[in-house]
Amino acid sequence: MTDDRIVNAGAQPEDEDPHFTFRPERLDEMIGQDDVRDQLAVFIAAARERKEALEHALLVGPKGLGKTTLGNVIANELGVGFKRTGGQVLERLELSQILTSLEPGDVLFIDEIHRVNIRVQEILYPAMEDFTIDLVIGQGGPGARAVHVPLPKFTLIGATTKEGLISGPLRDRFGVHVRLNFYSPEDLGKIIDRDAGFLKVEVEPEGREEISRRARGTPRIAKRYLRRIRDYALIRGEGVVTRDIAARTLDMLGVDPLGLDEMDRRIMRAIVDRGGFAGLNTIAAAVSEDERTIEDTYEPYLIQIGFLSRTSRGRSLTAKAYRHIGLTPPPVEPQDSLF
Ligand code: ADE
Repeated sequence: MTDDRIVNAGAQPEDEDPHFTFRPERLDEMIGQDDVRDQLAVFIAAARERKEALEHALLVGPKGLGKTTLGNVIANELGVGFKRTGGQVLERLELSQILTSLEPGDVLFIDEIHRVNIRVQEILYPAMEDFTIDLVIGQGGPGARAVHVPLPKFTLIGATTKEGLISGPLRDRFGVHVRLNFYSPEDLGKIIDRDAGFLKVEVEPEGREEISRRARGTPRIAKRYLRRIRDYALIRGEGVVTRDIAARTLDMLGVDPLGLDEMDRRIMRAIVDRGGFAGLNTIAAAVSEDERTIEDTYEPYLIQIGFLSRTSRGRSLTAKAYRHIGLTPPPVEPQDSLF
């Protein structure tokens, strides 16, 4: 795979960051997500055996868990090219150009596929289902004509943080559905060890534990923390990532023992300050952050650890969350209790 075969429109900035490296290239280099790896290994092997393209695959899961990495790994395992674009920026013309440039079997990865607009979806449907595209030849006016162009069989990999926002017809066109879940601290620990090896930094088991406990089940975060702790260890320590060095760095970054940062705490306080229930737009205004970032970056983990719930009256906090920020939980209201 060469760089000119990669389309990068709509990529996240950190994806281009040369520091965000050491991504696995093959399935057996990937740590964790065992069910996902087992399933994909079978479907990929079967596609290879039949010399066919893999069926279109939908990857669902919170940010930072490696959906793009997995897309790239799938292409590597299939031995095909990988092109990537983002649903939020995708226009009809760009999609047509990408589709007509695909080689047989190639993987086309569309990030945030729930954001692909309706007019672009109209091109996507026949491309996914019949491997065809209708192109208009000529500049418009009387000379223009529509031609029905066959496409090579390819694999569309759609990634999304919000499966519920994908239209039924689009979702149904994916034959393989894969869900990535937050990583266990043990798996994050192994990922930290792997990166520490590449970075040539010594990490003590207790240091690794401290990072994995505070990394919100997310490799992207664990990797970033490791790099900051390595800096801290070099300047304020002996170059070794001990528990003390890891804890001091993370404290300095405002990351608490559960991995929550200043923005998480502000979101929680915004809910408390509004009487225990607040809508997403109210929270966004209160903390000066955009709604999408709150929904995609902060809420999934607060929900996962049982701190936040989405109710018909807005976002609310659990008793655990109140206690975590040093407040007494409000008495349970009759409509919120089970009985
Ligand atoms: N880096 C990011 N995600 C990873 C994973 N699942 N396994 C190994 N290294 C990783």
